[in-house]
This record gives sequence, structure tokens and C-alpha cells, in this order.
Amino acid sequence: MKILTLTLTLFLLTHSAVAQDAADALRSSMADKNFVTLERIDRDALQELCSKPRTAAIDPEAAASIRQAALESVPEPGNADYLGDWARGEAIASNGRGLQYSDNPDQANGGNCYACHQLDPDELAYGTLGPSLAGYGARGQSPAMLQYTWAKLWNTHAYNVCSHMPRFGAAGILTEQQLRDVMAFLFAPESPVNRNLTP
Ligand code: HEC
Repeated sequence: MKILTLTLTLFLLTHSAVAQDAADALRSSMADKNFVTLERIDRDALQELCSKPRTAAIDPEAAASIRQAALESVPEPGNADYLGDWARGEAIASNGRGLQYSDNPDQANGGNCYACHQLDPDELAYGTLGPSLAGYGARGQSPAMLQYTWAKLWNTHAYNVCSHMPRFGAAGILTEQQLRDVMAFLFAPESPVNRNLTP
């Protein structure tokens, strides 16, 4: 029994030492450049929770509190104005630049939505990690729909704790105005996202 405990302790010690070595090697071999900073090596509570192996049990209380904190941190848009300009939103959704060390931080980021979603049904190139958003406007523009979509875009973890979608507002990827424009691209009846809905 003692030997088993000793072996287990040694195993755990070496394991955390290896993890520490790996973090130290990353830190000493990289330098901050533009958006890409060494801070990215440090995981926040959410990344810690969602980076566990698939077989590991996730503590439901920790998950619920992270989700709740994400939801509570979503600000309302100024003047409760959720919808901007769909054409500008279309350009943002199609633009994948930003957040790489080689990008100019003075230029606005894109949303890269097509990397994961179908939006305009006539666009041929899109990823399928996320669901199709073609015809999103059919959900209507009730306050609940606008609030849900705004919060989902601001901090996706408010609804799906280990979501793969970027936190566009919370992580400072898109500005409030850019988010309003992307919202209009999703909701406006005249937006190409909804072209199949108009007779
Ligand atoms: C890295 C992939 C990725 C990117 C980039 C991405 N999304 Fe998502 N998105 C997802 C996934 C996966 C889901 C579904 C699972 C979930 O809710 O997290 C989703 C869900 C959504 C939903 C909720 C859909 C529903 O049926 O309620 C909306 C709205 C949405 N995304 C909009 C966008 C917009 C707009 C952009 C660009 C600004 C974007 N997404 C960029 C992966 C992505």
C-alpha cells in the first residue's frame, strides 16, 4: 500500500513538473508581438474547465457558475440599439483577418463567421463546425431573440459553457458597432442571409 502511494505521488509530481517545464519552455522561447502575448499561455477558469480530457467529469456547479458569470457580464448595446448596417456586417462576417502576430493591431478585426457557419445561402465557401445561419431572420426580431443573439455573439459561453465560438465582445475581437452590424446581417429582411425568405 505504501509503495503504491509513493509511486502515485511520484507520478503526480513528475507530471506536474513536466507541465511546468512545458510552460517554462513556451515562455522562454516566445515574445509578445502585437495581439499575441505570453498571457495567452495562462488559462482562465473557463479554459481550465473546458480543456479537460473528454473522459474527465466536469463539475456541474463550476460550469453553471462560469456560464452565469458570462451571461451577467454581457452589456446591453447603447440605446438598446441592436441592429446596425447589414452590408457592413456582411463585410465583417466575410473578413478573417485579425489577432495574428502579423496583423496590424490598428486595423479593425474581422468576425470570420464563414469559417464555421453558412450565412448567405449563395456563398459557396463556408465551414460547418457551427450550424447554418441561413434564414436566421425567420426567427423574428422580438426583444428575447435580439437579446439572445447579442449575448451569444458577445460571450458564447453564456449559453454553451464549452462553446467553440470566439467571444467576440468579451475578448475584444469586435467592437459594439461591428457587432450591431453583424446582428443586422443576421436579422435584416433585406440581408442576403435571408434571401431565401423573401418571396
Ligand atoms: C470557430 C468557429 C466559429 C466561428 C468563427 C463563429 N461561430 Fe458561431 N457558432 C459556432 C458553433 C460551434 C456554434 C454552435 C454551438 C454553440 O452554441 O456553441 C455557434 C453558434 C452560433 C449562433 C447560435 C445559433 C443558434 O441556432 O442559436 C449564432 C447566432 C452564431 N454562432 C453566430 C456567429 C457569427 C455572427 C459569427 C461571426 C461574427 C460566428 N458565429 C463565428 C462556431 C463558430
